[in-house]
Amino acid sequence: MYTTDLRTAEEKAEEARKGVPRSALDTDALEAEFQARIDADAYIEPKDYMPDGYRKTLVRQMSQHAHSEIVGMLPEGCWVGRAPTLKRKMILIAKVQDEAGHGLYLYSAAETLGTSREELVRQLLAGEAKYSTIFNYPTTNWSDVCTIGWLVDGAAITNQIPLCRCSYGPYARAMVKVCKEESFHQRQGYEALLQMMKGTEAQKRMVQDSFDRWFWPSLMMFGPPDSNSAHSSQNMKWKIKRFSNDELRQRFVDATIPQAEFLGVKVPDVIVKNAETDHYDFGELDWDEFMAVVKGGGICASNRIDARKKALEDGTWVRDAASAYAEKQQVATVAAAE
Ligand SMILES: [Fe+2]
Ligand SMILES: [Fe+2]
Repeated sequence: MYTTDLRTAEEKAEEARKGVPRSALDTDALEAEFQARIDADAYIEPKDYMPDGYRKTLVRQMSQHAHSEIVGMLPEGCWVGRAPTLKRKMILIAKVQDEAGHGLYLYSAAETLGTSREELVRQLLAGEAKYSTIFNYPTTNWSDVCTIGWLVDGAAITNQIPLCRCSYGPYARAMVKVCKEESFHQRQGYEALLQMMKGTEAQKRMVQDSFDRWFWPSLMMFGPPDSNSAHSSQNMKWKIKRFSNDELRQRFVDATIPQAEFLGVKVPDVIVKNAETDHYDFGELDWDEFMAVVKGGGICASNRIDARKKALEDGTWVRDAASAYAEKQQVATVAAAE
């Protein structure tokens, strides 16, 4: 194609790295350079060129992730006041605070892509953005809180470890710290269940009951099956995703079943080790239930959003005070410089 653009490919690439705005004529070159950097396992940074689809996908995924961390505080937070011992209470408070921190990193990382946290929160409260369906299930007893740590945080780690190598730098870096904390969450839950399994028959029944209710929904945390997963192949190409939903789900099942056996809970009969593949077969999941919960049908769905609306309203005075203080500081700084 004829062009009046006399820059070399190297010059274009250098400008792309610096995020210099350019004409639409250069889009092909920019996209090729962008993909080449991803193929070479380089990170994409906020001011770098990126295709709109990449940006949109990341904003959707990172904000869903942030919302899941924040909404995920609710089913466990309501047990802080009812934890059975001081030790368990301290661990649970630390865990719930970690989840708040994860949400804040992720909102900040998503903001580097140009969408404000206020807008992301608005989308959540308006029902336009999703969060993990698992948090729409109720925590009916203490054992559920421990099982969430073991299974839900365990599934989260399985999902998130590959994200430490995601192509978008701020997301990948946030995930490194998040995964370390998730590992603590998973261990504390499993350890608490081990203690319960050394207890009374009633405690053992509680653990089994929790496992039975949370196991299948935790497998659904990996999303729909590959055959029905909308954005998968493009996300793999962009290295936003490194493994498919089904691969990660299988990895989680393979890690979890031996843990369940060591714990002493009975696993569903349908789960059997396949001697040929050396993986556990687990049959079909109830995708109708998954879709019903995704569409807002979970038992606690409206309760979760109401809680977040109340938190936003209750925090208005804090945000106002912080803004007023920041303004005052700025005025003082300007005055001191004059
Ligand atoms: Fe988390
Ligand atoms: Fe966690």
